Amino acid sequence: MVYINKLAEHVGQEVTLKGWLYNKRSSGKLQFLMLRDGTGLVQCVVFKGNVSDEIFESAKKLTQESSVEITGTVKKDERQVGGHEIDVKELTVISIAEEYPITPKEHGIEFLIDHRHLWLRSRKQWAIMRIRHRIVKAIRDFFDDRGFVLFDPPIITPNACEGTSTLFETPYFDLGTAYLTQSGQLYAEAGAMALSKVYTFGPTFRAEKSKTRRHLTEFWMVEPEMAFYNLDDNMDLAEEFVEYIVQTILAERKEELEILERDTTNLEKVKRPFPRVSYTDAVEILKKKNHAFEWGNDFGGADETVISEEFDRPVMIHRYPSEVKAFYMKRDPQNDKVALAVDMIAPEGYGEIIGGSQREDDLNKLLERIKEHNLPQTFFEWYLDLRRYGSVPHSGFGLGLERTVSWICGLDHLREAIPFPRMIYRNTP
Ligand code: 4AD
Ligand code: MG
Repeated sequence: MVYINKLAEHVGQEVTLKGWLYNKRSSGKLQFLMLRDGTGLVQCVVFKGNVSDEIFESAKKLTQESSVEITGTVKKDERQVGGHEIDVKELTVISIAEEYPITPKEHGIEFLIDHRHLWLRSRKQWAIMRIRHRIVKAIRDFFDDRGFVLFDPPIITPNACEGTSTLFETPYFDLGTAYLTQSGQLYAEAGAMALSKVYTFGPTFRAEKSKTRRHLTEFWMVEPEMAFYNLDDNMDLAEEFVEYIVQTILAERKEELEILERDTTNLEKVKRPFPRVSYTDAVEILKKKNHAFEWGNDFGGADETVISEEFDRPVMIHRYPSEVKAFYMKRDPQNDKVALAVDMIAPEGYGEIIGGSQREDDLNKLLERIKEHNLPQTFFEWYLDLRRYGSVPHSGFGLGLERTVSWICGLDHLREAIPFPRMIYRNTP
């Protein structure tokens, strides 16, 4: 058996392909079967003069998404999808599909998500999943090549990491309530003290009440954490990382970006250095553009878009008011009102793709923060130990995988960036 994406190695030869009928047209003695095998598409030509009557008839009976095995000769043909065509000799039906719900006509988005398990076979979804996979590989390669150790945090946790408002609860035997993790960061900090540079990469959960195109309740996050890194080191790493991901996809997933009709002009500009502006300067940008905003609030999606329009590549906004940020962030020694935090905002209205910070490394200050945020100190004793036994300056960030896929693919909504999206109003299929 040969895969469609390897046909170039078999020009002039007879091959056997296995796949599904993507679509079909016919004219008299000819039937043109578009075959899909998961690696690509190829047109298979059934000519009445070349095959038995039986085979010609079974080709006629093929419905959309029926599974078949086809044997034929590979011809090079630049005008065809994928650059090849198959001259069919043999055809075996594996299974005739019932009337397929997704047809080439336009379907509403709710209908498509209801049929997500089938929608994934469509060309655009195929391209998105292949880009997602390549982004995941780029993420792993980036950290593996730079001496980071993959460090898997638990998913079931006894307490909040990013604030208590968005926790999914689950009963946990005799121990009461446990929570699904919102972020592996606190555990990654323990990892960094053991292994210097680590990264976590897995699903995280937030009971987000927001129905925006930027929020899922289950999403994947990669979180590097580095001992002895300050905020500037953290930003240097974040921009190198995002440049690497985007440039890798431009080089390695050209065909998929074309299928998605992604205009890559802006992606090509994603090169270091990225602009860095303080939160305070970002507020000034908003004011200059007559966009109402008060120092001290957190930026919403609309504010982020207005700020990002000032720049031609991702922008890093640093030193947010400590009030709006998480308890673990270190305050700026120069100005106690702001935290050593950084968010990276993607261009073209895609919003925050990275959130990170330098961490509070002083035991007493961290204790104060835990009290201020009304967090149960007993559950944080192990985390406080990291400050009791050889505390060091350290930093890290988290990049949302679906936000990144959505931006690079130019999608309207995060729901297409993950195989089976989970949102406030949907947990099926
Ligand atoms: O800014 P966040 O909340 O940061 C953290 O979780 C830190 N613990 C990361 C760290 O410093 N190690 O989330 C990080 C990123 C966001 O920038 C965004 O890309 C993504 O995670 N994200 C979401 N993606 C999809 N749906 C949601 N509901 C998301 N919430 C955050
Ligand atoms: Mg954030």
